[in-house]
Amino acid sequence: MQRVDSTTTGNAAADGPTVVLSATGISKRFGGIAALSDVSLDLRPGEVHALMGENGAGKSTLMKILSGVYTDYEGAVAIDGRTIRFTGVRDAEDAGIAIIHQELNLVPELSVADNIFLGREKLIAGLVVDGKASSRTASALLQRLGIELDPEARVGTLRVGEQQLVEIAKALSKSARILIMDEPTSALSPAECQRLFRIIGQLAASGVAIVYISHRIDEVMHLASRVTVLRDGRHVLTRDMAKLDEDAIITAMVGRDLLASSDHERGPGGEAVLSVRDLSLSKPDRHGWRTMIDGVSFDLAAGEILGIGGLLGSGRTEILEAIFGSSDGRTGGEIRLDGVPVEIGSPREARRLGIALVTEDRKTQGLHLQASITDNVALPLVGALARFGLRSRSGERGLARDAVGALGIRCESIEQAAGTLSGGNQQKVVIGKWLATRPRVLLLDEPTRGIDVGAKREIYDLVFKLAGDGLAIAVISSELPELLHLADRILVMVEGRQRGILSRAEASEEAIMRLAAPRLGTPRRAARPAA
Ligand SMILES: Nc1ncnc2c1ncn2[C@@H]1O[C@H](COP(=O)(O)OP(=O)(O)OP(=O)(O)O)[C@@H](O)[C@H]1O
Ligand SMILES: [Mg+2]
Repeated sequence: MQRVDSTTTGNAAADGPTVVLSATGISKRFGGIAALSDVSLDLRPGEVHALMGENGAGKSTLMKILSGVYTDYEGAVAIDGRTIRFTGVRDAEDAGIAIIHQELNLVPELSVADNIFLGREKLIAGLVVDGKASSRTASALLQRLGIELDPEARVGTLRVGEQQLVEIAKALSKSARILIMDEPTSALSPAECQRLFRIIGQLAASGVAIVYISHRIDEVMHLASRVTVLRDGRHVLTRDMAKLDEDAIITAMVGRDLLASSDHERGPGGEAVLSVRDLSLSKPDRHGWRTMIDGVSFDLAAGEILGIGGLLGSGRTEILEAIFGSSDGRTGGEIRLDGVPVEIGSPREARRLGIALVTEDRKTQGLHLQASITDNVALPLVGALARFGLRSRSGERGLARDAVGALGIRCESIEQAAGTLSGGNQQKVVIGKWLATRPRVLLLDEPTRGIDVGAKREIYDLVFKLAGDGLAIAVISSELPELLHLADRILVMVEGRQRGILSRAEASEEAIMRLAAPRLGTPRRAARPAA
């Protein structure tokens, strides 16, 4: 295949810039839902083309068509001007198209290296599958990408953000000339985002056409040269990024001006509902016990929102897991609810005590993809209701309808399988499911990951309302503006230890970043026996 030079002249050329891929008049239905109606898109070599739109707008569906996941659609896809119909993902890969999917597609039982080269072992190792060779190649690739991961580590033991890095490495290993990235940064730390942006810049400079999907508008404006906006499965606009500002993009996406999220009334903190003292968590690994967090202490009052910040892997999620009893490790320290010490050995006990956790990993921990919205929302309650002989289908449907209404979940019906909802709407179902348990303490891990601007503001307002109703809320977010908007105080973690708690007056993006940066000279969190 011939490589086309990067187009730097833009529209200046008389016959327009080179197009490496074009999609024309694409329509796609899922049963009664028109996911895409007559959408067209063209890609130029060397451009970063942002694809934007609210949850359910059709972005992922369009990309799955371009990458051979869906072969059943109307319209035409052409590469280098020749119409082509992929028979499947491998076919699209052979044509030079790679995709980083929004939902992770890794095999948890396999190592990082095996996942990266899955299905292509022979390409790198000759005729025999050679574990050592693939591990070495993976190691070199990860190093080149600046990703600190052990190629031998089992993917299932990695955090979501780390898995996302594996997914990225996997796509990049294919040396595609068209690279589709569907929400690649949703679980990455700021430093990892920066590294990825540098890689994207290098790829684009070498002529790769990149489609970039993200709900983070600032990120998109910074990266992309052109943007296409979809709304309700239809094409709204395609423009040079330089010709649009943030408001114009948002208006194109939602079709109306958005009201700013209201602010939260912040009263003085009352008595602590949840007190945590010297909390620690160690997990088993190859070398014995590894300390994940140590020395975490805070109080959380009714109506208060505590933000938890820090880099990926700094122990933020582990704090919530240790409180919720859902970690597979050993915990230490003391947890009190309303001043009474409690031992929380399992999520079931946590729930009984009125604690709810919305995890960051909705695919494996939050959501049953095959089950309906109703079943998902009612799930945590089923045990409790049934025990009292109270399980009622109509009651469950009522809960599901409440969740759909309160959170603005876009669906055809509450009996629809959760897996057929768009990514952001799936996240809303997870939140709805936990709210249905009417908790007193709500733990949120990246609650707006992958959620569009409109829905994000709805979720912020919801969090404020819940705090106003007296819930004690702890929320982890990698997005600093989100943390600053939501939190009354912000606890910052560095390498498993609490570095400090910023008051609202002290907190700023800069202050958080400064606290969150690992200190030079401090030893990395070592594998050491837990006391
Ligand atoms: N496999 C499927 N079965 C049924 N409906 C589906 C399926 N996949 C997508 N849809 C529907 O098609 C529409 C477009 O979904 P898509 O996943 O493309 O949205 P998106 O723009 O990627 O949203 P998000 O930002 O939330 O990821 C949605 O209404 C969604 O519910
Ligand atoms: Mg999507």
